[in-house]
Amino acid sequence: MTATLRITNTAARDVNADAIVIAVGQDARDQGAGSLVLAPGAQDIDAALGGGLAETLGALGATGKPEEVTRIVSAGKLAAPVIAAVGIGTATAAEPGSADAEILRRSAGAAVRSLSSPKIRSIALALPADDAASAEATALGALLGAYYFGRYRSNGHPAAELTLLASAEHVGPAVAKAQVLAAAVTLVRDLVNTSPSHLYPETFAAEARQIAASSSISIEVLDETALAAGGYGGIRGVGQGSAHPPRLVRLSYQHPEASRTVAFVGKGITFDSGGLSLKPPKAMETMKSDMSGAAAVLATLQAVAALKPAVNVIGYLPLAENMPGGAAQRPSDVITMYGGTTVEVLNTDAEGRLVLADALARSGEDAPDLLVDIATLTGAQVIALGNRVSGVMANDDAIRDAVVDAATRAGEAMWPMPLPEELRKGLDSKVADLANVAAERDGGMLVAALFLREFVPDGVRWAHLDIAGPAFHEGEPYGYTPKGGTGAAVRTLVQIALDAADGRL
Ligand code: BES
Ligand code: ZN
Ligand code: ZN
Repeated sequence: MTATLRITNTAARDVNADAIVIAVGQDARDQGAGSLVLAPGAQDIDAALGGGLAETLGALGATGKPEEVTRIVSAGKLAAPVIAAVGIGTATAAEPGSADAEILRRSAGAAVRSLSSPKIRSIALALPADDAASAEATALGALLGAYYFGRYRSNGHPAAELTLLASAEHVGPAVAKAQVLAAAVTLVRDLVNTSPSHLYPETFAAEARQIAASSSISIEVLDETALAAGGYGGIRGVGQGSAHPPRLVRLSYQHPEASRTVAFVGKGITFDSGGLSLKPPKAMETMKSDMSGAAAVLATLQAVAALKPAVNVIGYLPLAENMPGGAAQRPSDVITMYGGTTVEVLNTDAEGRLVLADALARSGEDAPDLLVDIATLTGAQVIALGNRVSGVMANDDAIRDAVVDAATRAGEAMWPMPLPEELRKGLDSKVADLANVAAERDGGMLVAALFLREFVPDGVRWAHLDIAGPAFHEGEPYGYTPKGGTGAAVRTLVQIALDAADGRL
């Protein structure tokens, strides 16, 4: 469930909440002398306390560095009993898409995340929110930091109730956009965190149907019979070892004034055991997250349907569970993909590219101006870029750079990667048109992208996002990122749709 956020222009001293958050920055001009500066929003509280707030925080060890949270009691001087001061470094107001905007998001997120508890249920935000960009950043960070996944806990609590101290008249639309983005990220996190015994292709498709029914999105679902009849050999091959049959979901958002169509394709492996090329137990533990790409595409359509940009957006979710059952595909099986290309499956754990290939080929029927796929595709991505930076590959350098730029403006870390032609021959097969893996492991992220490129419809500009590392967070929470599903890349996909509507892409 998405946390709630309302806007009020109540004075900070009077707002009813279990805690109130302010920001403290570092003075950029004092060359590390350590003086704390109260950020916009904190002055009223300083006045209510009779001044000296910065000194008090300094005495408690606050340094103002981003995401550091220092708590003090308000001792009856404010309606809220607890004051939490979060550091924002030298960030001031957030220019749209700037590094400062990300600091505001992370700091708002860190404050709300560290306060949220069974005792602190309502949190007021006396944070920078005077201009649209700062308000959007503060609201989004706070909403994402309030995320809580309680579905399987007997003593779970609801997500915190947030109150932003700001002028609704002035920043209302910016905050509304933050709420749409937060709802999209929350949807992805919830789907990723759901156990694969509850989320499998059929239930995932049912979830998509519900979202489509409550918005202006149209939906079509191909079941196993329709997939067989339609010649979707990749999706069927991957799904055939599971008791839960595969699905292909197609979502469509149409705008009457649209002059462009963007198609998104998201890898939807609801659990990746590796199939007969079985993964070791440790590597399997996080493989419920192997549907993060499909979840991101579904959430993007939900957000686009709410924001209503003048662009057509199509979303494909190829959904399958990769299991080693008696009917599973075997290493050396040859399958015929949608469109007729044959593939020799040498490693059943390289399954994402097989389901994506069918959907990429199918998307040609929508004649998209831009095709973007998103997938937890390779362990090689994690080795190359780590857990926080996604890789971007494309059949057009300008598109690749435009996607990286959209990601930066959306506040997500992505990096351009090449498609070296010499790696393509590694995918030649002894018996079929293509093999699904190369004999050499080198450049695994790039080889996977070269495989996908074979299925991109002729003349279509295409980009591929490998989010294997960033989609799921195993370490300690930071900023607005919790443990588990992160919602990586959704904000970038929404930004791509908005850029396409603006004629930027
Ligand atoms: N789902 C995995 C990739 C993955 C690994 C995602 C780690 C998130 C974290 C994918 O299906 C896979 O198993 N890829 C293989 C490909 C190899 C067999 C060519 C891999 O990366 O090892
Ligand atoms: Zn796999
Ligand atoms: Zn996989």
